[in-house]
Amino acid sequence: MTEQSPALDNLLTESRTFPPSDEFAGQANAKADMYATADADREQFWAGQAERLSWDTKWSQVLDWTNAPFAKWFVGGKLNVAYNCVDRHVESGHGDQVAIHWVGEPGDTRDITYAQLKDEVSKAANALSSLGVVAGDVVAIQLQMVPEAIFAMLACARIGALHSVVFGGFSPTALRARVDDAAAKIVITSDGQYRRGKAAPMKANVDEALQGAETVQKVIVVRRTGSDLEGETPWTEGRDLWWHELVDGQSTEHKPEAFDSEHPLFILYTSGTTGKPKGILHTSGGYLTQTAYTHNVVFDHKPGEDVYWCTADIGWITGHSYIVYGPLANRVTQVVYEGTPNTPHEGRHWEIIQKYKVSIYYTAPTLIRTFMKWGEDIPAKYDLSSLRVLGSVGEPINPEAWIWYRDKIGANKTPVVDTWWQTETGAIMISPLPGVTAAKPGSAQRALPGISAKVVDDTGTEVPHGGGGYLVLDKPWPSMLRGVWGDDERFRDTYWSRFSEQGYYFAGDGAKYDEDGDIWLLGRVDDVMNVSGHRISTTEVESALVSHPTVAEAAVVGATDPTTGQGIVAFVILRGNAVDGGDDAVQELRNHVAKEIGPIAKPRQIMVVAELPKTRSGKIMRRLLRDVAENRQIGDVTTLADSSVMDLISSGLNSGKEE
Ligand code: PRX
Repeated sequence: MTEQSPALDNLLTESRTFPPSDEFAGQANAKADMYATADADREQFWAGQAERLSWDTKWSQVLDWTNAPFAKWFVGGKLNVAYNCVDRHVESGHGDQVAIHWVGEPGDTRDITYAQLKDEVSKAANALSSLGVVAGDVVAIQLQMVPEAIFAMLACARIGALHSVVFGGFSPTALRARVDDAAAKIVITSDGQYRRGKAAPMKANVDEALQGAETVQKVIVVRRTGSDLEGETPWTEGRDLWWHELVDGQSTEHKPEAFDSEHPLFILYTSGTTGKPKGILHTSGGYLTQTAYTHNVVFDHKPGEDVYWCTADIGWITGHSYIVYGPLANRVTQVVYEGTPNTPHEGRHWEIIQKYKVSIYYTAPTLIRTFMKWGEDIPAKYDLSSLRVLGSVGEPINPEAWIWYRDKIGANKTPVVDTWWQTETGAIMISPLPGVTAAKPGSAQRALPGISAKVVDDTGTEVPHGGGGYLVLDKPWPSMLRGVWGDDERFRDTYWSRFSEQGYYFAGDGAKYDEDGDIWLLGRVDDVMNVSGHRISTTEVESALVSHPTVAEAAVVGATDPTTGQGIVAFVILRGNAVDGGDDAVQELRNHVAKEIGPIAKPRQIMVVAELPKTRSGKIMRRLLRDVAENRQIGDVTTLADSSVMDLISSGLNSGKEE
């Protein structure tokens, strides 16, 4: 195990538990016996969950794991994912049910029923087909949280094209790398986006990204900010098309074709331990089965009764699995909010919950901690009594935030589900069941029925209760990634080589069992940082820094941060001819990283140093840098090539500190 931060250590002393009320337990979708049923026959259990969906052709085999780690689930089955998320709800008589209460940041709203969703998705599917998009093609989508993002994703699914959604905050360079890697044929974006009350350009960035991009034939542009954005939207004749001109006139009739259960559904890029993001590939039948199942049991969702709100962005896996696929497959009525939580005021989320009577709310610890900072008097002004389940995702939630969440938002009665999963797992893997589990603040507790997770030591042996080690998934699961786009070797190396003898998937997280055998997540054990629930690799930021002409060398670490979980701290050595590392130089480097990757990767702090601590073999000792970044006493320096280096660095501790 690598070092744990003191905050994580503290988690382990938590001993309060919160069992569900009898009333909640009595009406819950998932009951305690589900664990035993799933254990008795896993494949039978998953077959039962797949029955939630509508299949054109039933599968002949639940799981084919003979070519591990390349799984096939529901072999031979055929279905259309978009039909399952939309049409079948209309066919079952729920066309008038609101699927999406959309709330724009400036205050405009749109309620979209399932019948309307079906029309919009069908029109968009016809539009994509009219441009020559066929099954297997890749469509890149860079959009903020507008309904068209969801229409576009479902339209791709409907015609068997893969979407690759790129977070709206990613830079042109990051977008381009993703477009090229997947050879995207179409890019969908908008003229501009509202962010913190202002219209900011979007299309201009996309144009910059696509200069010379050979695979892209058309760019479809949603009009969102219109005249609120200064200047004309830049336009490339022959390549660019307005969404409304292309889509609005299309027929609302579109026959969904059934695709193989293993037909690719989407690629989503995520940071790994190298500078190059990985295109995580997900397929259809297994992914939809597990997202729908988990949305049902973890959130206790009741179609037609609950109003659900997941605050994630569509650019991340949580937006894919718990805004689009799982919830819509389950006939959700959900809120989709475009903007930031403090625009125009810090009570925006609570105002929305009050207005739409949101009953299930799913967000990230970093936001909960931000709400805590803003003060409990803000949520106290709103009627939040509709809430009955609260969820958390993205990083370990500290007990203090957990208790605050339950107490101040959930009136000290709603179950809180801390859900552990990853882009790669596709759906929730470890989480309490709200009607079954006596919840422990700070622990994700136990693998869901049908899922198997273990904490093991270096040799792959399960650790005893009370012991810590590495989190592994020791049995295949339906929504597992099917590979890294275009790179089978990287797929095997990254996830399956560490415990290849046992055939375990290594998640990259450290974890611990408590005395009851409940699982506590302890953060990443590799060079991946978790900043506000977003994964960023240290190498990615280092590459961005050294791409600046003044930087000779850079080392980046994730340092514990009270709000964002981790903050990015960079140590840089400037080139001999570069001017000294004053505030301007540091600011310029921070901006450079934002430009190369996106504002989420902007280092919190950059320290200009003369040397980096290295072992005699030249390996940078990040552990020591983390000590510095977290203001801890420097650990053991005996393996350093030059032990005076750390004194030099520590003495410059506060230089370049931001904000
Ligand atoms: O370190 C774990 C952390 O987030 C990583 C996955 O990041 P990403 O693929 O971006 O997906 C985030 C949303 C599913 C994990 O390896 N993580 C996620 N959820 C939790 C968590 N750490 C602790 N507790 C969680 N509930």
